[in-house]
Amino acid sequence: MIELPLRDLSRGWKNAKVALAQVEPVAFAAFYGGIDPSPGQCRFLSAICSQDPRESQLIAKTPRGGGKTKVAAMAFAWLLRNDPTWRIFVHSGSYEQAHYLYSYFKPVVMNPEVFPSEWLAAEPSQSLTSFRQGGFLRVLAASEKQSRGGHVDIFALDEAVLIKQELIDAVWPTVHTSKRPKRIVMSTASPKISLDWFVRLWQDAGKLGFQRFDWPLKECHWINAQDTKRVQLLYGIDSETFKIEYLGEIAERKGRVWDSMLIDGEPTPGHPHPTALVDADNREEYPPPLAPPATEWSIGLDWGFTHPTVLTVWEKQGETVYARRLKQWQKESFTEIRQEIHTDHPDITVYADSSSPGENEDLKRIGQMVVPVIFSEDKEKLINHVRWRLENGFMKVPYTAEFEPLIRQTRSYLGESHAVQERQYPTNSKFRI
Ligand SMILES: Nc1ncnc2c1ncn2[C@@H]1O[C@H](COP(=O)(O)OP(=O)(O)O)[C@@H](O)[C@H]1O
Ligand SMILES: [Mg+2]
Repeated sequence: MIELPLRDLSRGWKNAKVALAQVEPVAFAAFYGGIDPSPGQCRFLSAICSQDPRESQLIAKTPRGGGKTKVAAMAFAWLLRNDPTWRIFVHSGSYEQAHYLYSYFKPVVMNPEVFPSEWLAAEPSQSLTSFRQGGFLRVLAASEKQSRGGHVDIFALDEAVLIKQELIDAVWPTVHTSKRPKRIVMSTASPKISLDWFVRLWQDAGKLGFQRFDWPLKECHWINAQDTKRVQLLYGIDSETFKIEYLGEIAERKGRVWDSMLIDGEPTPGHPHPTALVDADNREEYPPPLAPPATEWSIGLDWGFTHPTVLTVWEKQGETVYARRLKQWQKESFTEIRQEIHTDHPDITVYADSSSPGENEDLKRIGQMVVPVIFSEDKEKLINHVRWRLENGFMKVPYTAEFEPLIRQTRSYLGESHAVQERQYPTNSKFRI
């Protein structure tokens, strides 16, 4: 329940309005932001303004124009109006987003009915509005090279899919020392550089301690519904772009995955060995390795920050690639990992996840050949390539416990509707599938 300050009501509408806006963020957004927030927006707005520790981490996913940035700007203004010591940093995926956020915030902070002008420590600008009491709102586009150091109470990633992993990793601990820390991640789920990261956070929100916020297009009364229909005519009813950008959905992975037959299926006369999983002890299915130059060797490497670091070693004989080794590191330092890779495989080129350029550079420095791969951007291409290999029986993975993580990953691309039954892994490699 909102406690209406009746004393103020008796002093006229203006006082009542100010008083109501002070206790109720939704009223604040309506009076000073000129919007009529939708139910989803109201929930998100209240959560940003809430002091409840259960609302310390928030993720919002909506269509483009769904009103995320506006709500965040209103919430920050409300927080600062009530306590001008809040330290708030917004990292925007693009200059345009940064500009929007500030353009929503500025008229409110300049409104003397809301903020006494003597509170402002200096003329506000997009990159910094600071208050004499110590608080501030800083808004930077991800590409801007200004200092990002220093601790804050709240950070927001706006259009997070546009922000590089390194910057996200650097921002994450900046609220760690605050007594009232809050992390806010907002985006449309567009296929950009950090989509995988964003989708994982969205899908595992509960496990990762995030509250989810989304609201459908039909709630966005400010979006022209007639125009949405016209746009749909242009893109087509099943268009991914339409679903993501206009309806706020997540890109589907259907159609980019492979048939379960290719991994677990029985051999057929046309394809003697179409299945990718082979018996490690059967020399016909899994011939012994040869040394270069008779065959080509390569290494795939995924640096782990929150998950383990995973290395796979592959050998290409003719057109067929054979998985030869899979190694996971859980807790070892990157220095140990680099040394081990270089000692074990000094002459094999490493195709490494490009989102860790520092690690890749260090690996190069000790003499390893490294080719960075942009998984998020090249994913479609990589998946198509793997599908082609699977369809032609050109990829072979021994069905042993060592390769379990790889097999699990390969299966996870089947999508839920194709989920296969878990099988027991053999304890020794004398196992025929
Ligand atoms: N509840 C609302 N009522 C009216 N207009 C709104 C509302 N929410 C957002 N808008 C307007 O919609 C436009 C897009 O909002 P924005 O917050 O920039 O969207 P997003 O960040 O989700 O892409 C802006 O012009 C904003 O003022
Ligand atoms: Mg926005």
